[in-house]
Amino acid sequence: MGAATPGTVTILFEGRDLSVREGTSVAVALWEKNVRVLSHSPKYGHPRGLYCARGHCTSCLMRIDGVPNVRACETPVRDGLRVQRQDPGAFYGRPLQRVMAAAGQVFPVGFYYKWFTRPAWLSRCFLRLIRPLTGVGRLPDRGASSGPAAGVGEPASDGAAAASLARRDLGLFDCVVVGAGAAGLVAAAHASGRALLVDDHATLGGQRRGALDAVAAALGQDLARLPVLAGAHATLSRAAGLQPRSGLGLALGGVIVGAYEPDLLLLRDQRGLSLLRTRRLVWAAGALDASGGFAGNDRPGLLGPRGLYRAVTRDGLRVEGRRALVTGVGLDLWLAAALLHARGAKVVIAPSEPGWPEELKAAGALGWTVHAGLRVEEATAGGADIELRLGPPGGDARTRVRCELAVICARGKPAYDIPYQLGARLILDESRGGYVPREADRVESRLPGGLLLTVTGEAAGLPPGAVLAAAQR
Ligand code: FES
Repeated sequence: MGAATPGTVTILFEGRDLSVREGTSVAVALWEKNVRVLSHSPKYGHPRGLYCARGHCTSCLMRIDGVPNVRACETPVRDGLRVQRQDPGAFYGRPLQRVMAAAGQVFPVGFYYKWFTRPAWLSRCFLRLIRPLTGVGRLPDRGASSGPAAGVGEPASDGAAAASLARRDLGLFDCVVVGAGAAGLVAAAHASGRALLVDDHATLGGQRRGALDAVAAALGQDLARLPVLAGAHATLSRAAGLQPRSGLGLALGGVIVGAYEPDLLLLRDQRGLSLLRTRRLVWAAGALDASGGFAGNDRPGLLGPRGLYRAVTRDGLRVEGRRALVTGVGLDLWLAAALLHARGAKVVIAPSEPGWPEELKAAGALGWTVHAGLRVEEATAGGADIELRLGPPGGDARTRVRCELAVICARGKPAYDIPYQLGARLILDESRGGYVPREADRVESRLPGGLLLTVTGEAAGLPPGAVLAAAQR
């Protein structure tokens, strides 16, 4: 391994040295080196790449420093880091996955554990055959760290186990607010007693704040030409500037990774795992990216808007001169496009809903290529590029866009994991983006263990525009 130039480090990617930018994540570093495929789906072997950039999906699971299933998007690069994809280990793995993909109906969901369960000897033979297919099961190298890599943690299985893992006990709070976006900030400003505000970002303002700041800095006066962004920036800046009352603690860069009835939470931050208890939980953790329903929606090269914000503002994803398509609906469509423009990408935008007259005018003035009224029908990949077929709903005028990066701005899926662990009941409501806690319909609910729960903002299924409008009042 040669000496790294300043500002770079050298990682060992599948046997070859790669000089990558210091201070970024493995997943973003590989993307910048045109490595788009980070993993393959366990059943059919479909290629997967950087998607959520925040540890919420499994698209970037890699073998890092000899440890399997490490999230490359949450692992910082450093000199000498060994990085490998986890492909099927057996020689028949990939060909058999192709057969399974072609004859998908013969291999229904769950066949791998439902078939040949009896007699026991046949089950053993079948499992031996099927396990190497997944390519995610090889044990850590001898001597590899047994603990999780940076940024990766597993919740304990019960409260007692959580207590034994935690380094600190933060004690009892009157209120814990999870999420420091617009809804969480408003809730935190009104929280009484001993309260704590938790967010996995390093600053107040939530998932869009960093992106909006970057766009405002790059566009200056021109931000006013995109009223949807100017309004969002003003609202979030004001909400983040609300003077938190005394007694409110901040846990920025922290994540609640586990919850145990009746009132125990496990917080992971830079200092490790901490235990805390609370009388009231305000769940304002926002929503997760959803890829939208079209053929090829799991292709490497497709990102969600939140993934883009994270990759650009936290990891410094370099997109200068790269051709990028942004399609979909809502505030995120304009924010993702403006962020890519601010970072020097060649922007193509395809709003799939009508409206936005001011923004469309600004898009033209900023030099973006606009395909109004089209939505993605299919994505196909070829090398470092991705090709998208766009068409109007019900019409037949089709167009194809080839790009290196496509951001799909679909309705986000409300985050619900921690309320669910505490006993909240989920209801399926497509109009709100999928599953939401039933408690989201009430101002406050008492969970079975006695904890008071409030679900608010995008986590309650509200679109981001409505959350910002509510925060203005
Ligand atoms: S977990 Fe890394 S991209 Fe989603």
